[in-house]
Amino acid sequence: MNCRELPLTLWVLIFVSTTESCTSRPHITVVEGEPFYLKYCSCSPAHEIETTTKNWYKSSGSQERVELNPRSSSRIALHGCVLEFWPVELNDTGSYSFQMANYTQKWKLNVIRRNKHSCFTERQVTSKTVEVKKFLQITCENSYYQTLVNSTSLYKNCKKLLENNKNPMIKKNAELEDQGYYSCVHFLHHNGKLFNITKTFNITIVEDRSNIVPVLLGPKLNHVAVELGKDVRLNCSALLNEEDVVYWMFGEENGSDPNIHEEKEIRIMTSEGKWHASKVLRIENIGENNLNVLYNCTVASTGGTDTKSFILVRKDGKTYDAFVSYLKECRPENGEEHTFAVEILPRVLEKHFGYKLCIFERDVVPGGAVVDEIHSLIEKSRRLIIVLSKSYMSNEVRYELESGLHEALVERKIKVILIEFTPVTDFTFLPQSLKLLKSHRVLKWKADKSLSYNSRFWKNLLYLMPAKAVKPGRDESEVLPVLSES
Ligand SMILES: *[C@@H]1O[C@H](CO)[C@@H](O)[C@H](O)[C@H]1NC(C)=O
Ligand SMILES: *[C@@H]1O[C@H](CO)[C@@H](O)[C@H](O)[C@H]1NC(C)=O
Ligand SMILES: *[C@@H]1O[C@H](CO)[C@@H](O)[C@H](O)[C@H]1NC(C)=O
Ligand SMILES: *[C@@H]1O[C@H](CO)[C@@H](O)[C@H](O)[C@H]1NC(C)=O
Ligand SMILES: *[C@@H]1O[C@H](CO)[C@@H](O)[C@H](O)[C@H]1NC(C)=O
Repeated sequence: MNCRELPLTLWVLIFVSTTESCTSRPHITVVEGEPFYLKYCSCSPAHEIETTTKNWYKSSGSQERVELNPRSSSRIALHGCVLEFWPVELNDTGSYSFQMANYTQKWKLNVIRRNKHSCFTERQVTSKTVEVKKFLQITCENSYYQTLVNSTSLYKNCKKLLENNKNPMIKKNAELEDQGYYSCVHFLHHNGKLFNITKTFNITIVEDRSNIVPVLLGPKLNHVAVELGKDVRLNCSALLNEEDVVYWMFGEENGSDPNIHEEKEIRIMTSEGKWHASKVLRIENIGENNLNVLYNCTVASTGGTDTKSFILVRKDGKTYDAFVSYLKECRPENGEEHTFAVEILPRVLEKHFGYKLCIFERDVVPGGAVVDEIHSLIEKSRRLIIVLSKSYMSNEVRYELESGLHEALVERKIKVILIEFTPVTDFTFLPQSLKLLKSHRVLKWKADKSLSYNSRFWKNLLYLMPAKAVKPGRDESEVLPVLSES
């Protein structure tokens, strides 16, 4: 047990289904059909055995009082200072008195109908309220009938939770889900008949009354990249007390902005009885005036406030749809790769499908720091296409590969598309990170089958390329071969 739990356990709330040893309450309500007893309270063990005369009387309504004895009803038994009913019935309602020498005690008994449709009778429940996280214990015990009880079951909302020959019990820290009716049913045999005694607790769980300091979830300052003309939803969520409030604040110098809408707050109760609230601020048709200003969300309670801010920033436009990396030192035997990267790819992707590619050799003027340049070009591209062949690995391309892969796999900024131009049998030279690529992002080029625009190769490649708003022109026939000369 740690120190924080200690004070809680001092607030122990234990509900024990037990019966007082003598009947001190003057007014008693009991359910028909159950064993029941009345016991005189100043009865000493000596009185129990003593031969002093003890008398029990009953009177009801206008009837005169009658003395009770086992002959007056087969359901009644007298044991010293105790009057037992096996069981008590509706017509046992009335006033009872006990007399022994000049001692006397009186009770008023009200026998009520059993609810035949439930495992307990609503009028006969004991209601208790427990705070969340406080200790909750329910124990089924009946000291008077203890020796007769054959078995005891514990029900929650009339569904059996525990069955036990001794005393079923529940011990836990209260949660909201613990709320319900708990019935202890003791079964006992008497004179060959089976009886039961039911004691029901109506347990209500209330939230932790101690307030928490409300907090907004997530970082205090959020930069949200947006595109002008688009919509954005800023989600502010908080953990708070029931009475705390969440609201949005932003500059409205030029009157309220009709494009800004506060959505309805959504609240969900946690199992500890606190609340999770989220409130969305929707900004439609984002304009320049929405950029670089603070949209603040605040949670306020008597205990204090917490604020977080959102700033809309313009999304960096990417210049290229893909950066193409291939072997540049074209010795004659690599001529095909060069043709593929510098001619076939742009002809299909750019001319036919309207993408914009970055091909270093074609798009970058010679001179300058090659390594930095490549890095920034990859950053400006949405995809990195690597044309892989046996002779791919020169130092320069290797750098492209490594930095592109670093972004792709570590920063998750750019997706890599691997084109296996000539079958690669030995992948051991590939950087470790490349081997992690999903196989569906590796496309195999088959010179004889892949030429046509509607071949599987281009379909798969288009699927991996960024989505395009503009569809390709219909004028260029799909059956046109990519290469006019073979
Ligand atoms: C308890 O006894 C009553 C009759 O006195 C019966 O109607 C009821 O079904 C019994 N309850 C259980 C759980 O057996
Ligand atoms: C159980 O307790 C709740 C809360 O105190 C109360 O609203 C409800 O009426 C009680 N049920 C019965 C049957 O007494
Ligand atoms: C419960 O009652 C049954 C049937 O009368 C009997 O066989 C069994 O031994 C009793 N169990 C206990 C624990 O008294
Ligand atoms: C807001 O964020 C919270 C927590 O991250 C989440 O539970 C909630 O569903 C979100 N609301 C909307 C409308 O997206
Ligand atoms: C938003 O919060 C920041 C930091 O708490 C504060 O400086 C700024 O004045 C607030 N702006 C508005 C519009 O409430």
